[in-house]
Amino acid sequence: MKVKSKAHFSTQAIHAGYDAKLNHGSLIPPIHISSTYAFDSVEQGGAAFQGENDRFIYARLGTPSQQMLEQRFAQLEQAEAALVCASGMGAITATMWSMVKPGDEVIADLSLYGCTYSFLEHGLKSFGIKVTYLNLTDSKSLADHISPKTKLVYSETPSNPNMRLIDIESLSQITQNYDCKLMIDNTYCTPYLQNPLALGADLVVHSATKYLGGHGDLIAGFVAGSQEDIDHIRMYGLKDMTGAVISGFDVSLLLRGLKTLHVRMDRHCENAQKVAEFLDQSEHVKHTFYPGLDNFPQQALAKKQMHNSGGMIAFELHASRDQAARFVNNLKMILCAVSLGDAETLIQHPASMTHSTYTEEELLQHLISPTLLRLSVGLEHIDDIIADIKQAFQSVFSDEDLAVSGLAISA
Ligand SMILES: Cc1ncc(COP(=O)(O)O)c(C=O)c1O
Repeated sequence: MKVKSKAHFSTQAIHAGYDAKLNHGSLIPPIHISSTYAFDSVEQGGAAFQGENDRFIYARLGTPSQQMLEQRFAQLEQAEAALVCASGMGAITATMWSMVKPGDEVIADLSLYGCTYSFLEHGLKSFGIKVTYLNLTDSKSLADHISPKTKLVYSETPSNPNMRLIDIESLSQITQNYDCKLMIDNTYCTPYLQNPLALGADLVVHSATKYLGGHGDLIAGFVAGSQEDIDHIRMYGLKDMTGAVISGFDVSLLLRGLKTLHVRMDRHCENAQKVAEFLDQSEHVKHTFYPGLDNFPQQALAKKQMHNSGGMIAFELHASRDQAARFVNNLKMILCAVSLGDAETLIQHPASMTHSTYTEEELLQHLISPTLLRLSVGLEHIDDIIADIKQAFQSVFSDEDLAVSGLAISA
């Protein structure tokens, strides 16, 4: 469900849900760390447990700090309500546990963040929930497969790590004919670049550890959707199934990160566009996957559903797996690390790192090439980012190496 406020995104990111005048003039919202909340009487406490008043009870059910952040984030995601969790996986698992029961089916896209895949495989499947992976870039595959048993359709867009896009609107036109929720992981885009609920999705999840926090100093997650769904996820998936509750200190860091999200995202996009163009022109690069490139196979869809192309790039080198690893090892400023969306440019090799639990066969099935590299373009000066990539190419692709590997480029 879409709920649009009149204020602009940047204004909401700074002001929504908080009034300094009601908090002693304190510009920054207070951090509430109390684990429990006192009542005036047993009757008042009893009424709180029955949901008959809006008193806070216990921090696993919510705190004033969490509530304020959730109201702000709901505005940004154009949602009726939002729930903040202790991690992105906390938000994903709390939501999925709340939406399916044994005998139901979940349909997920072929390429997913590695731990989400592990949860589907080792969590949901072992509790009697059927999980089917389809290539959801083709919405017809969903139309052909969906049935009354399908209760959840799940996808990332762009997907981690290989930048495939899913047409949210087309999928929602199919799921809305069933008693089935469409759940989208919007981590790569953030609500600044893409609004899945406005495009017809029912639930949107985020790893707030990434761009939303933006400074690599917290772990958090969000789910946003209708008030009814969020109430259910809070009282069941979060309170009982996962207990994945965020601390007041991390709420405060996340509020700080959100205030600059729009400014940071603009620069991430600007830098990533230039890096993608550089990689695409390079003789050492076989494929560059970035929605802002003219040769991106789903550029029309990117223009339709994303407001800009984002800060993430996937690319494959004209190289062996060893050479791809040597390229990463030879970078000097760019850090070899998982996670993404930080000020620092980060690179990782999914087959060895985030998706290392996949067998060779699973890597192929889930469309992750063994030489694929994932780059999270940071906020450093663009010339320094490109200079570092150039020098790492030079170190790895010396004439001698190219001759040995048979990949020499003729003059
Ligand atoms: C697309 C995506 N979704 C979810 C997650 C999980 O988030 P967290 O690490 O905050 O639990 C990640 C983490 O890398 C991710 O990249």
